[in-house]
Amino acid sequence: MKQIAIFASGTGTNAQAIIEHFRENKNTCVSLIVTNNAQSGVLKIAAENNIKTAIVSKEGISDSERMKNLLKEIDFIVLAGFLLLIPEYLVKSFPKKIINIHPALLPKYGGKGMYGIKVHEAVKENNEIETGITIHYVNEYFDEGEIIEQHKVTLSSADSALNIQIKVQQLEHEFYPKCVVRMVK
Ligand code: GRF
Repeated sequence: MKQIAIFASGTGTNAQAIIEHFRENKNTCVSLIVTNNAQSGVLKIAAENNIKTAIVSKEGISDSERMKNLLKEIDFIVLAGFLLLIPEYLVKSFPKKIINIHPALLPKYGGKGMYGIKVHEAVKENNEIETGITIHYVNEYFDEGEIIEQHKVTLSSADSALNIQIKVQQLEHEFYPKCVVRMVK
């Protein structure tokens, strides 16, 4: 059985979509949720699904011995709204085995501080006619790893930042779990 760890800091809707997608899977399971935020909605989702959790601080994620021990059974790491930078030792320990989703068409609207509604506000501000999602490998820089796939959605001038977020979330929940299935093999 391949084991996935999901790293998330926020509400956890993508984590939920991935957990549901793998629930009946006989070869792969989500066996660990890692968060840096003790208030994160993803902890409730983990509890509802009987998935082990770990809370790691910014300092904690730099503790390579602790993290390697925590992840010793893990084959693949999925970032789903995880706001801490993944340290280089972790990237090297999981070569091409850590992926992330970004709620825009990278390289546009990426980098440190570009997360959540801020991304969609910037898209709106620039009157973009389309936006989308980017799924990419993780390296030691925010949003700079090799792109695996992108999916687009058309925008209208009537779309608010919140509407844009809803459209993008639909793409995330549709495509991220399917991509994880392919990448984990
Ligand atoms: C998503 O928009 C994802 O693209 C980004 O962080 C957000 C997480 O949302 N990396 P949720 O917590 O999964 O609802």
